[in-house]
Amino acid sequence: MFMNLVNSRESCRHFLKKEVEREKLINCIEAARLAPSACNSQPWSFVIVNKEGLLEPVAKATQKIGMNKFTDNAGAFIVVCQEKANFTAKIGSVLQETAFQDIDIGIAVTHICYEATAQGLSTCILGMFDDKKIINTLNMPKNKKIKLVIAVGYAERDYLRKKVRKEFDEIAYFAE
Ligand SMILES: Cc1cc2nc3c(=O)[nH]c(=O)nc-3n(C[C@H](O)[C@H](O)[C@H](O)COP(=O)(O)O)c2cc1C
Repeated sequence: MFMNLVNSRESCRHFLKKEVEREKLINCIEAARLAPSACNSQPWSFVIVNKEGLLEPVAKATQKIGMNKFTDNAGAFIVVCQEKANFTAKIGSVLQETAFQDIDIGIAVTHICYEATAQGLSTCILGMFDDKKIINTLNMPKNKKIKLVIAVGYAERDYLRKKVRKEFDEIAYFAE
């Protein structure tokens, strides 16, 4: 059931120092590839980092202002980039005054996290990182817009935290 997956995904901040299988990472990208997007624009690309020599500098680049120290043990990173939206999505964004690209990328990232969870992996979405360091480390085009980085790996712990969330009544109601 999907809710089992929802309940078992949490941000992992204690990774085992362990490699992540290439096939599992490919499956995560496949889940993102099939994600919905405004006007089917698919304004995303992904750089998968799992090479020994690249993991350390990317981990360090996610440790901006002393944060995210736990990424040292992540077995892989997925660097999520924003690509150009198609014409209709761009027009839609302007007319609707909504950044559809951001929404699209958020959905794709969610697909990645759930596919990772379904395969026994753990993830942490990282919004804080030194994009220039990542771009240099990975020899990416200088103007590439990195929106998020996902740390992927195997959790050290085999229990889940209690989820801290707003109650139903605080976030939803049935319209009358
Ligand atoms: C856009 C975004 C950026 C985030 N950035 C970070 C981050 O830089 N470091 C971190 O440890 N967690 C980060 N998180 C994880 C959130 O803190 C986490 O999802 C939230 O507290 C709920 O906890 P859970 O994911 O364990 O359910 C981020 C999550 C999102 C969606």
